[in-house]
Formats: sequence, structure tokens, C-alpha cells
Amino acid sequence: MNRLKIMMLCLLALPALLFSQNVINPGAVWPDDKGEHIQAHGGGIIKLGKKYYWYGEARRADNDPDYRYVGCYESRDLVHWKNRGPALKLSDPEQLGHRWVLERPKVFYNKGSKTYVMYFHLDDARYKLARVGVAIAKTPQGPFKYLKSFRPLGLESRDIGQFIDDDGTAYLIFESRPTKGFYIAALSNDYLDVVKEVCFIRSPLEGGAVVHYKGLYYAIGSALTGWNPNPNKYATAKTLAGPWSEFKDMAPPETNTYGSQSTMMLKVAGTKSTTVIFMADQWKPKTQWDSRYLWMPLQIGDGRLWLPEPQPWILNVKTGEWKSAVR
Ligand code: GAL
Repeated sequence: MNRLKIMMLCLLALPALLFSQNVINPGAVWPDDKGEHIQAHGGGIIKLGKKYYWYGEARRADNDPDYRYVGCYESRDLVHWKNRGPALKLSDPEQLGHRWVLERPKVFYNKGSKTYVMYFHLDDARYKLARVGVAIAKTPQGPFKYLKSFRPLGLESRDIGQFIDDDGTAYLIFESRPTKGFYIAALSNDYLDVVKEVCFIRSPLEGGAVVHYKGLYYAIGSALTGWNPNPNKYATAKTLAGPWSEFKDMAPPETNTYGSQSTMMLKVAGTKSTTVIFMADQWKPKTQWDSRYLWMPLQIGDGRLWLPEPQPWILNVKTGEWKSAVR
């Protein structure tokens, strides 16, 4: 092979090499397979077989303002995402009026009924309704059909989160304002209802997320400051039902969680290691479509949880290992 040919081959291979680098850039624009910034804000992720599905608020600037959209993205490595959405395109389902709210969608897969069940925060413009909405589909990418809305356990519910324990049991996490704290609640067998309070964590927090790591449950949440970031905090418990420890800082408080708000903790258990990813939103309330994602592996274990200073990092979903991308 002559030199020119070798050079040509190298040049051709370069984009593939760069693409295969599984670099996650916290706070950067995160392009999907079409090169567009991912629209899955306040989101959640489930794993089905070898594929991950990321759902969240799709707040494109050119959305039809009469509808609310839920984005759905598919990936095998948690870095390169194929746009499969919108999974839900919904017009005002309960006559809530102009500027009604659909936020923080989370999808559960029910093995029994082979149904994908989506929960989301449904509200009016003044956030007084405080209900969950439920929509269902037969495929992960939908289209999901709206089913109903209700207040879980009869309680006000705003920010929601999802937690699937290692035994597969699914829980809805919801923030309840009058009592100030968040509930961890069990779903019915078909996931279409919220049936049992497992725990109420009394602390004025929202954006609730839970992970089970090496025999301990870790819960995180943010303070109630709307779109503005604040110091997110964590607590631990030996069982989901508690008792839970006091909440402590999970990052230097002056950074306001590096300008982000929690939405989920994702556990990636590989052949060599387990990484727990802090998934958070850096909201831009005036240009919501440009809100960014802050994903960073947590330092977690022995009752401590800490968010290191965000920097580009590389994930290997097979081994569960991660490393910094900064040399
Ligand atoms: C935040 C909440 C967001 C959204 C926002 C509206 O506290 O986490 O999901 O509801 O308030 O101001």
C-alpha cells in the first residue's frame, strides 16, 4: 500500500475513532443521531435488554404550543442516542388551560401486561392541580396514549422520580408540598396505580431520586427553588422504608450542585465495576430547549455520596468502568 493510500485510510477512520470515544461532556450540547440537542429534560432512563431508553420533556423551540411532548431516545452505550420520539404528544387532557404543565416523565415496563407505563407531573399554569398523569404504550417509543390523572395516595404530587430496585420492584417517588418531603410509593401489579406508601422522607426537597448501592439506599433531592439551582443533598437508609439519615451536602454548597438539579441516579453494573451516574438538569427557563444535562459518576459508598467537579468523562457500559477524558 502506498503512503497516500494509508493516509487516506487513516483520515477515513478518524471520524469513526472519534465517534467511538464514549465521552460524556457535562453541561455541553448533547447531539442525538441527527445532530440535534437531546430533548429529554427532567428525564429518566430504563434498560430493556441491551438497550437504554431515555425519556424526558421535549421542549423544542418549534413545538406546537398547544401540545406537550415527551422525548424518547435509544442507546446501547449511554453516550450515542438515537431519537425515537416523540413518545407522547398530548393536548391539554384535563382542560387545564393555557400553559398547562407536563413535566418529569418517567416510564416503567410492566412485564406482566407487556405494557410501557408512563407517569408524569400534570399541572395547571399555577401548579395547583398537583397530580400525576398516566399514559401507556405497547412499544418503548410509543406512541403513548393518555389514560388518566390522579393524586397518588390522594396526596399532592409535583416533581416525580422513579426507582426500580434490584429485585425489579418499581416505585414512584413524588414530592408532596403540604407535608414537605417526598414519598417513595409502590405501584400496583399493573403499574397503573400508586397503592402503598413505603416511606415518607420528611425534608423540603424535590427532584427526588434513589439508588441502591452495596447494601445501602441513597436518596438525593434539591431544595424548592423553582428553575434556580441550589445545593442538592443526600441521605442514606438500610431499608427503603427507613429510618433515613439527616440530609447532607453532596457537592460544595456554593456551586449550587454545579448549577444543576437532580432528576435520577442511574446504576451501571458491569463485569468489573458499578458506576452510579448523577443525572441532573441545568435549566435555562427562558430558552428551555437549550437546557443542558449534567451527568457525572458519583463517588459513592460506605454511607457517603459526593459529586466530583464535572469534567468530560468516558464510560464503558460493558465493564461498568469510567475514566476522566481529560489528560
Ligand atoms: C422546579 C421543578 C421543575 C419545574 C420548575 C418550575 O422546582 O423541579 O420540574 O416544576 O420547578 O418552576
